Amino acid sequence: MDAISLLALLFLFFAGVAGQCDNVKVLQEWQGNYQAEFRDNAPKDIDGLRLELSFQSRVLRLELQKGSVEQVDDFTFIITDPALKVSAGEEVWYLIQVYYYFTFPQVVKNVMNDELLCEDNTLTTPEPMVNPCDATGMKPHDYAQVLCMSYVFYEAQRSGPLPADQRVTWRGDSALDDGSDVGHDLSGGYYDAGDHVKFGFPMAFTTTMLGWGLVDFLEGHQEAGQEKYGLAAIKWATDYFLKAHTDTYEFYGQVGSGGPDHAYWGRPEDMTMDRPSYKIDATNGGTELAGETAAALAVASVAFQESDAAYASALLDHAKQLYDFADKYRKNYHDSIPDASAFYRSWNGYGDELCWAALWLAKATGDDQFIEKAKAHWEEFDLTKDSVAQFSWDDKRAGVYALFYNLTSDTQYLDLLNVYLDWLKSGATYTPEGLVHLDAWGANRHAANVAFISLWAAKHGIDGKKNREWARGQIGQLLGDNSRYERSFVVGYGQNPPERPHHRSSSCPFPPSDCHFGLLQPGPNVHTLYGALVGGPSQNGEYEDDRQDYVRNEVACDYNAAFTAALAALVEIS
Ligand SMILES: *[C@@H]1O[C@H](CO)[C@@H](O)[C@H](O)[C@H]1NC(C)=O
Repeated sequence: MDAISLLALLFLFFAGVAGQCDNVKVLQEWQGNYQAEFRDNAPKDIDGLRLELSFQSRVLRLELQKGSVEQVDDFTFIITDPALKVSAGEEVWYLIQVYYYFTFPQVVKNVMNDELLCEDNTLTTPEPMVNPCDATGMKPHDYAQVLCMSYVFYEAQRSGPLPADQRVTWRGDSALDDGSDVGHDLSGGYYDAGDHVKFGFPMAFTTTMLGWGLVDFLEGHQEAGQEKYGLAAIKWATDYFLKAHTDTYEFYGQVGSGGPDHAYWGRPEDMTMDRPSYKIDATNGGTELAGETAAALAVASVAFQESDAAYASALLDHAKQLYDFADKYRKNYHDSIPDASAFYRSWNGYGDELCWAALWLAKATGDDQFIEKAKAHWEEFDLTKDSVAQFSWDDKRAGVYALFYNLTSDTQYLDLLNVYLDWLKSGATYTPEGLVHLDAWGANRHAANVAFISLWAAKHGIDGKKNREWARGQIGQLLGDNSRYERSFVVGYGQNPPERPHHRSSSCPFPPSDCHFGLLQPGPNVHTLYGALVGGPSQNGEYEDDRQDYVRNEVACDYNAAFTAALAALVEIS
């Protein structure tokens, strides 16, 4: 053992002892519980014991050999034993069994019949985070507040070194060595969902949608005071994409491996598994990935044009290169990054991403050559050949119709968009509550995605009233207009919101941490994951606030993306 480890051990030893009341001694320890004895002299004559014990961290329950126990809160318990009689100075001895989920709960205070015997203030529990978006005078649906909270959620998903203005205070720096396996700095970007893989494809779609929402619903953002948070949320991803674009035809599209990452339930700050970096290049192309990232960077360049022209221009250069890369070395990205296959395989191919990227470049540059390219992709891949159901990280066709129409005013695209919007209202499946149900996995997110398309259409003069009111109803379902559940599906917002999202970092306590109960413990997540939209109900309307149900109760960057944009739209029109 070297001197440093010895010092560390000594430190841990003393740190451990310092917080304990020494009239309580641990006798035996098991996983998740321990037995201890309380031994002290009675400070006065006792006729009936009343012993109050306070613990430093959360206790699940306390068991005794005799007497009875009352739980005051998660940290404080009162033991009463009316039969116990001792005179002042005589010893009182009690055996306790302490059950807990996470951090070993040391006794930091005890009071016997109103006399303080021990109090140790050296160990303090960090203050819980407060909602930075708490508005006074909340309206029935305070879209501005939820918009604000949605951006807070993105701060909870941040990977890499965190800035001083980080509002999610229970997060810390993590995954600082990402990319070290390939000699690049790939720190930063977003953790995908309840896990800690940085999946580039959905991260890029998330960024495109946040960008679209900010650019086309800037007024809504400004009205809610959220423009700067919108830019920050986009930049957190685009800074990472610029780093990941290591050469003209080389782009890192994933850090972390699904299997080992998902097998770990803990905080990203404490991860120790290998986090391999995966790339696409001229030999192994990745058209969907490069195309979607090009789209994200192009729309981001529009978003940053006003406030930071130099950054906007760097984003646009990379966007053009990545689009060229996507087009030139065509290949399904999951064949080049097979680790993504089980999670974000591109099911519908790359024709839509090529078209979508070219359209966003047309929007960002005003250069008609990109419209011509988009038209060529449209024809080549015959993007009208099957009907469209979802608008998602995989399938961008509904967005392609909207953008094409916006850029060309050509009614063939408008007609397709209208057919789709009509189908959503009268042809699609709904839950009994009235939520459009496009997928069992993350139904809420799919409803939010199409609500955004509908709100975008309304703003652009397409069947305004109908599209707006339908979308308002869908977002309303997510915010609590659902008589079956009478709940909001946004963590920390509205009535009866989910408290147990399938999300590792919010379900684990601060260090020193041990999160082996994080997934299974039945109580709420340790931290409130403000602003996260959970997966949502099944087709027949079933939903439970159950952390183990990752189909209906996970959260993800892509779940909140178009949702954020839709909220900005609703702020704008309400
Ligand atoms: C395209 O979008 C811009 C920005 O929202 C808008 O000003 C313009 O009117 C739109 N054009 C069409 C044809 O919808």
